[in-house]
Amino acid sequence: MMDYSITFPTGTVKYMSQGSFAALGSVYDPSHCIIITDDNIAALYSSLLKTYKTIIIRAGEEHKNLQTIESVAQQLLQSEIHKKSMMIGLGGGVVTDITGFVASVYMRGIPFGFIPTTLLGMVDASIGGKNGVNLGLNKNILGTIRQPEFILFDPGFLKTLSTAEWSNGFAEIIKYACLFDANMFEELSKHSIEYYMQDQSSLNSLILRCVEWKNKIVLADEKENNSRKLLNFGHTLGHALENLYHLTHGQAVSLGMIAACTIAESTIKTEVSVKQRLLQMVQQYKLPYQYHFDVKKTMGLLKMDKKRNESSIDYILLEDIGRPIIKSLSFEVIEQILESSDHASHH
Ligand SMILES: NC(=O)c1ccc[n+]([C@@H]2O[C@H](COP(=O)([O-])OP(=O)(O)OC[C@H]3O[C@@H](n4cnc5c(N)ncnc54)[C@H](O)[C@@H]3O)[C@@H](O)[C@H]2O)c1
Repeated sequence: MMDYSITFPTGTVKYMSQGSFAALGSVYDPSHCIIITDDNIAALYSSLLKTYKTIIIRAGEEHKNLQTIESVAQQLLQSEIHKKSMMIGLGGGVVTDITGFVASVYMRGIPFGFIPTTLLGMVDASIGGKNGVNLGLNKNILGTIRQPEFILFDPGFLKTLSTAEWSNGFAEIIKYACLFDANMFEELSKHSIEYYMQDQSSLNSLILRCVEWKNKIVLADEKENNSRKLLNFGHTLGHALENLYHLTHGQAVSLGMIAACTIAESTIKTEVSVKQRLLQMVQQYKLPYQYHFDVKKTMGLLKMDKKRNESSIDYILLEDIGRPIIKSLSFEVIEQILESSDHASHH
């Protein structure tokens, strides 16, 4: 698969699907670019960054906040970055969210592009044009929807990724399989993280398939009025748990998907095998399936989710693998189910 472009309502994205960071300089003049990255990546890839102006943020979800936005914006000014410059986010979801957000508001919007360096970034965070930051424990509550000019996929970056970060990426891959792709679910059930680490072509086609699913959904509903909500499967409870308990995004999504199966069992008609199959799958990809959380505290955060209505929330549930539905559930019902499930921590 070579380069291709997709036009969304808020912009056209050029996908460089088997790209290499080294070739970037022949597409964008390095003297017009500024790279935003985190301190882990800057340390690992310092030689690649030599010819670029860079802004280095601190790694970690706790830095995806307004303080970092302000500091990056100040450094953009000092570096005399203007509307004809190109801001490039090189990193995982934290870096690309920060980059997309700043680029959307700095001087009322300057061009930006992404080079995702985590598996989660390649299959999800860099795609779709949503760029959010946290306000306290409330995840992605401030955000923009604006597409990057390009996304360059260089699988070479995955060589330095830890197994724990590979697991995180698989949480989102499993999410797509659950929502849209029973065949992909089957394929995943036959393999493991180690298999995909070693088999470059299987990994590439898996990444490509996830990118295609996400783009298909975003094209149909960029502003998340209806079908894009489906992509939040596992994220409603997941987002609340992520910041409350300092879990990684993938761990939180994994727990959120299992809890959604528990909720589905008492609110809709769902195949009995779904939860069992998902439990097996997340364990196979080294993701957590059980976590005892404080339901009251978690509900406090869940209530502030972007998908909330007055006294209910649009919850994503599975009737079967590949058959998602959006169900409006009252906070009361969700709380009752979680309290009586084995997810709740009873002090
Ligand atoms: N905008 C969206 O649509 C969207 C979608 C999904 C997730 N997200 C966001 O993405 C974030 C999670 O993304 P993530 O898992 O990529 O997290 P991350 O950016 O925190 O990266 C995870 C860790 O991996 C390190 N790292 C990155 N690339 C590396 C490499 N090549 N080698 C070694 N280490 C490397 C980072 O320094 C960091 O410590 C969350 O904030 C989540 O909310 C956004």
